[in-house]
Amino acid sequence: MKAIELQAFGFDGLRMVDTHEPDPPPGHVTLRLHAASLNFRDLEIVEGRYGMPVPLPCIPLSDAVGTVSRVGAGVTAWQEGDRVNPLFFPDWIDGPFHPRYFERQLGGNHPGVLRQAMTVPAYAIVRAPRHLGDEAATLSVAALTAWAALTDAALQPGLTIVTIGSGGVALFALQFATMFGVRAIAVTSSAHKIPRLLAAGASAAVDSRAHGEWGEEVLRLTDGVGAHLVLETGGNATFGQSILGLAPGGMVAMIGYVSGPRLEMDMRQVFIAKRARLHGHTVGNARQFDAMNRALEAHGIVPLVDSVHPFADAAAAYRRLASGANVGKVLVKLD
Ligand SMILES: NC(=O)c1ccc[n+]([C@@H]2O[C@H](COP(=O)([O-])OP(=O)(O)OC[C@H]3O[C@@H](n4cnc5c(N)ncnc54)[C@H](OP(=O)(O)O)[C@@H]3O)[C@@H](O)[C@H]2O)c1
Repeated sequence: MKAIELQAFGFDGLRMVDTHEPDPPPGHVTLRLHAASLNFRDLEIVEGRYGMPVPLPCIPLSDAVGTVSRVGAGVTAWQEGDRVNPLFFPDWIDGPFHPRYFERQLGGNHPGVLRQAMTVPAYAIVRAPRHLGDEAATLSVAALTAWAALTDAALQPGLTIVTIGSGGVALFALQFATMFGVRAIAVTSSAHKIPRLLAAGASAAVDSRAHGEWGEEVLRLTDGVGAHLVLETGGNATFGQSILGLAPGGMVAMIGYVSGPRLEMDMRQVFIAKRARLHGHTVGNARQFDAMNRALEAHGIVPLVDSVHPFADAAAAYRRLASGANVGKVLVKLD
């Protein structure tokens, strides 16, 4: 078996190593991994600027699809041949988030999925959607976060959401919008990506370079009402416009910070004028992941894949994501 370790920060620090996967202990299963995918976080990790400690060497990446190849004693929930996704937080099965779940995050402070096999507790996986092949490697972080944002907002059909950018979280939210019966307005700083965002599920798109005050465009497109949910992935550069385009009492799902993690806000605008509800997100738990996979299956939704890179050149996948040119998830083929 082979794995790729991050032995030093920087793309050149990714090195292939030989590994051996022993028989799974009681209560565990071994997975043969087929494909993995990258998130924004994985760039932060490889570049040594993640917000949490990453002890080196580490096996990077958290999102994968695999097949159960060996079953440890006492495991009844899984059989050889089951196709599954590992959890980003292996210990978060149900209920609210607890800080102890941060102690084990795949591909950060806990060995990740950029390898051909891994052994996990039997509770730390969910069944992959049956209709998906390697595209199922895209679901653990970006899709689950978008899913949690939409389900936590308890939106009624016909209401409006806003997505920011054309990254993984935004694209999944656009694909889910149809399923939830909501109207989606996509905001992008890359006008040439607009046709792809409309094809993904947006009913309108706003070029944030042409419309610096893009919140006004959201108000115009909603007859002055505003959006009921904004999936805020931009951070400080976009938050003010997210509030401007928000309907009074609407929710801002506080997800990401691609423009930087520090936020400035005018509380008069955010809380008094807009009565905004800011709702933080930390991916999701196994119960939510399982519900999302069943919904993807029921609606036949296929994640958008930008490119698939060979295991031996995983650094190319990182470079592709870093380029910002991708529309869709960037995959590494593991088998
Ligand atoms: N809280 C959580 O649980 C959670 C889970 C997943 C992701 N996140 C966070 O959410 C954010 C997005 O993640 P992702 O995986 O979807 O990202 P991604 O795939 O890397 O996409 C980022 C997109 O943001 C846009 N963008 C880039 N620089 C920007 C800037 N300076 N200002 C505004 N927009 C910019 C670009 O779209 P355009 O070219 O179309 O503008 C780009 O495609 C990241 O900060 C990530 O860490 C958080």
